[in-house]
Amino acid sequence: MSEKTIIVIGSGTAALACASSFPPSYQVTVITKRNVTNSNSHYAQGGIAVSYAKDDSIESHVNDTLYAGCGHNDVTAVRHLLKSGQSMINRLIEGHFPFDTKSDGTFCLGREGAHSKRRILHAGGDATGRMLVEFLVQQLRDGIRIIEHETVVDLLIEHGRCAGVAVKDASGAVSYRRADCVVLASGGCGSLYQYHTNDSAITGDGIALAFRAGAEITDMEFTQFHPTLLVKNGTVYGLISEAVRGEGGYLADRFGRRIMAGRHALEDLAPRDVVSRAIYEEMMKENPVFINCSRIADFKKRFPTITGICQTAGVDLESGIPVAPGMHFLMGGVKADTWGKTSVPDLYAIGETACTGLHGANRLASNSLLEALASGKRCAEHITQTPLNGRYKKTPKKSDVILQVPDTTLHVLQAKMTTGAGIVREKENMQALASWLNNVSVRHINVKEITIEQAELSCLWKTAQLVVTSALIREESRGAHFRADFPGTEKEWHGKQIIHSTSGTAIRKNERIGELWTFCS
Ligand code: SIN
Repeated sequence: MSEKTIIVIGSGTAALACASSFPPSYQVTVITKRNVTNSNSHYAQGGIAVSYAKDDSIESHVNDTLYAGCGHNDVTAVRHLLKSGQSMINRLIEGHFPFDTKSDGTFCLGREGAHSKRRILHAGGDATGRMLVEFLVQQLRDGIRIIEHETVVDLLIEHGRCAGVAVKDASGAVSYRRADCVVLASGGCGSLYQYHTNDSAITGDGIALAFRAGAEITDMEFTQFHPTLLVKNGTVYGLISEAVRGEGGYLADRFGRRIMAGRHALEDLAPRDVVSRAIYEEMMKENPVFINCSRIADFKKRFPTITGICQTAGVDLESGIPVAPGMHFLMGGVKADTWGKTSVPDLYAIGETACTGLHGANRLASNSLLEALASGKRCAEHITQTPLNGRYKKTPKKSDVILQVPDTTLHVLQAKMTTGAGIVREKENMQALASWLNNVSVRHINVKEITIEQAELSCLWKTAQLVVTSALIREESRGAHFRADFPGTEKEWHGKQIIHSTSGTAIRKNERIGELWTFCS
């Protein structure tokens, strides 16, 4: 093979930014389970956070990221990724990506939770993610191959390095694709919970694949619940962006009482975990919560996607949008540096699949598309600059991959995760959940016989075990991880990460975490 062969798994912003950043001499293949548009990026309504305004700075954006992340961020990673993200935004602007502008031609800058400035660039009102994915697909150079409807069921490890993937196509046939490097960009694990904002194709695949391949997985207890999903009669219709509250929308119960008043200084724009718990508490009292949008001028123009979601749900904007929190984003994932390098040579992880320390214990709104752009580009740069480590002449034959599939359904798993390891957690419920996860009977199914649904359930089950084990071990509350039995943030947990690998689970102090953060108990 005369040139490097790269496989990118996933087709969201991180995957596309990565694929498009290799020079033409690279053979790049993007493999995605469904259509190229099936990704979480596609649904991103908020936008991309970037310090663009004159009165803003990277330092201010860094500080807001650390504040939201509750001191669990790797400050160096935050700086690197926010800075690289800024240069990717400049590249988008130069490439005429249609960010929304005001009548004077300057960019509209939105505001979202825990941002001290207006710094969210958006496109198509609330259609930023969809427009970005379409733009990035169009920008892919000739020669980049996109394979749709192919599921990666295993990573091929040879001599300790990642050498390719085993895939299953829509007809059920299994084949093997070799590569010099494999990049995991398959999102997080939103489907673990009953209410979530993720594409249904996002089933923890990258995390489960990396774990099986021997990579380190970290920070799995930090699962971000978005406060406001439109939920009516138990059905999730879609996300109601935080930007709605940024533009003056507010949370109120059916009597008009503002539920965030007195709960946090930032009220409706408090960090997501605070708002999610407030809504959850009201729901537990059977007091439904709505977003009042009456103060927002031109709602339909500014939020066309959300207007459509409300219409589909039969919700009249005048009477308020009924909302409930749901799983949105995984801060944890495959442990990676800011180049996407994991603990397995030639295996990279970027975007939501990775945990670089950028988000800490709670992601700042609209930092994820920025991270996806930055981490995709940095990963491609790193691979391009790294000499080949090894060449594998033959396609590895590995026809005997056996996956463990729990004898349960997705619906049951989601229900158990929602009650056992959801917005508010405590030991007894989590122990019961862990015991169920560890003792559920398991079928061993060869990849040749396995269905895609079974393969996905297998990944979700493994991911659930990692989330619950971590959430049980971390006996404190920090960011998105809230323990009713340990409601305080504890000094002794500061800077510590819970790391899983096939050799076991360890608690490790990370000296790069928490620098600059003033501890407040
Ligand atoms: C939102 O629009 O509220 C979601 C944006 C994000 O999660 O970054």
